[in-house]
Amino acid sequence: MPAVVVLGAQWGDEGKGKATDQLGSRVDHVVKFNGGNNAGHTVVIDGEKYALHLLPSGILSPGVTPVIGNGVVIDLEVLFQEIDALEARGVDTSRLLVSASAHIIAPYNRTIDKVTERFLGKRRIGTTGRGIGPTYADKISRVGIRVQDLFDEHILAQKVEGALDQKNHLLVKVYNRRAITVEETVAELLTFAERLRPMVTDTALVLNRALDEGKTVLFEAGQATMLDVDHGTYPFVTSSSATAGGACTGSGVGPTRIDRVVGVIKAYTTRVGEGPFPTELLDDMGEHLRKTGGEYGTTTGRPRRCGWYDAVIARYAGRVNGLTDLVLTKLDVLTGLEKVPVCVAYDVDGVRHDEMPVDQSDFHHAVPVYEELDGWWEDISECRTFEDLPVNAQRYVLALEEMSGTRISGIGVGPGREATIVRHDLLS
Ligand code: GDP
Ligand code: IMO
Ligand code: MG
Repeated sequence: MPAVVVLGAQWGDEGKGKATDQLGSRVDHVVKFNGGNNAGHTVVIDGEKYALHLLPSGILSPGVTPVIGNGVVIDLEVLFQEIDALEARGVDTSRLLVSASAHIIAPYNRTIDKVTERFLGKRRIGTTGRGIGPTYADKISRVGIRVQDLFDEHILAQKVEGALDQKNHLLVKVYNRRAITVEETVAELLTFAERLRPMVTDTALVLNRALDEGKTVLFEAGQATMLDVDHGTYPFVTSSSATAGGACTGSGVGPTRIDRVVGVIKAYTTRVGEGPFPTELLDDMGEHLRKTGGEYGTTTGRPRRCGWYDAVIARYAGRVNGLTDLVLTKLDVLTGLEKVPVCVAYDVDGVRHDEMPVDQSDFHHAVPVYEELDGWWEDISECRTFEDLPVNAQRYVLALEEMSGTRISGIGVGPGREATIVRHDLLS
């Protein structure tokens, strides 16, 4: 099974990092294909916690070649901070490859992200403030700075000048900030150029050749389906393609080469930032899920909004990604509840919607239709087979599988690498 995509089926933080890490020892390349350091993946190995942002989680597995694909946006300072921090803990990062066509988050894009959010006020997106949106905007507007531009100072200066031309008007006249000079920007970007140079290559060629040789490539998404710029809850989304198609455009590997698409999904739902969230719990139960699940952002530390599992979203994610498998995470967090409600449809102004409403106003007004499943009290963190689970937990998983329309191949029962039940091998 040579090419597998692992992506988020909800609003992020489903446990993609752990799922990727678990397959790490059996894959040759792990590719990050979208997003940047807005992502935060926590991986726990032998009780040791690693928080990854820009680097693919596969970097933690010895022997894996981690790849930053062309679809990623790179903050160079963050990249090297992360590399240095991992090296200091004994992780070998020397295999890392970086696409020559990936875009760079220039310092002015971090500034623009923050001031735009401030000016939006009540209408803000709640971004991570890392410059992600403005950098993708530059890419699409064809004024972006790419990795390869760092190696020709003349071209770099020309491109920075072109980008700053409009941005300084905006910064000074609209946002009341000081103008940014070409010289300071170029100097900052060049600080890292020589350190980056040996890692830079045609990663699409490397990946296609690896597949030609029968090697296993894992494509690891940042963010998630409901944050995807096309398929998510626009405009409350990130600015990249976090769905399965993004694995192709963000890496240069064609769709005919992808064998399996795995959606990682929590046994309940969380969201960080603004935007609609039908099953959100604003009461003590929401607080209970947040506390029990440790639902605070890996990147910004913000408390995550929490709610029940939403099977409408699961079916939608199944459809827009062509999911072959689901990995259900954090089942252990639901232990100790009398009843566990699951959203099976929405009521929008008296009309039942079994599928995602196409109109964003309808989604904003969607009231969940719940089915209540029986809970369980037994500690499940040591369960390693499906049969080890209490009967009600088994029934919960089987009901979710039925409602969601995709088989559940893995079940997470704790944050550690080993705390997983495998029902179907994701690589065979
Ligand atoms: P990602 O962004 O999708 O990689 O997810 P995050 O790392 O941001 O958030 C998932 C959190 O849940 C992390 O702290 C993981 O260590 C933790 N986690 C992952 N799977 C499980 C699980 O099955 N049970 C529990 N209790 N925690 C888990
Ligand atoms: P991982 O990979 C959860 C959210 C932000 C905000 C919106 C836009 O850890 O699952 P951006 O800075 O991307 O322009 O912010 O997207 N967001 C995430 N939420 N997990 C993430 O990544 C996220 N990356 C961005 O909170 O609502
Ligand atoms: Mg995360």
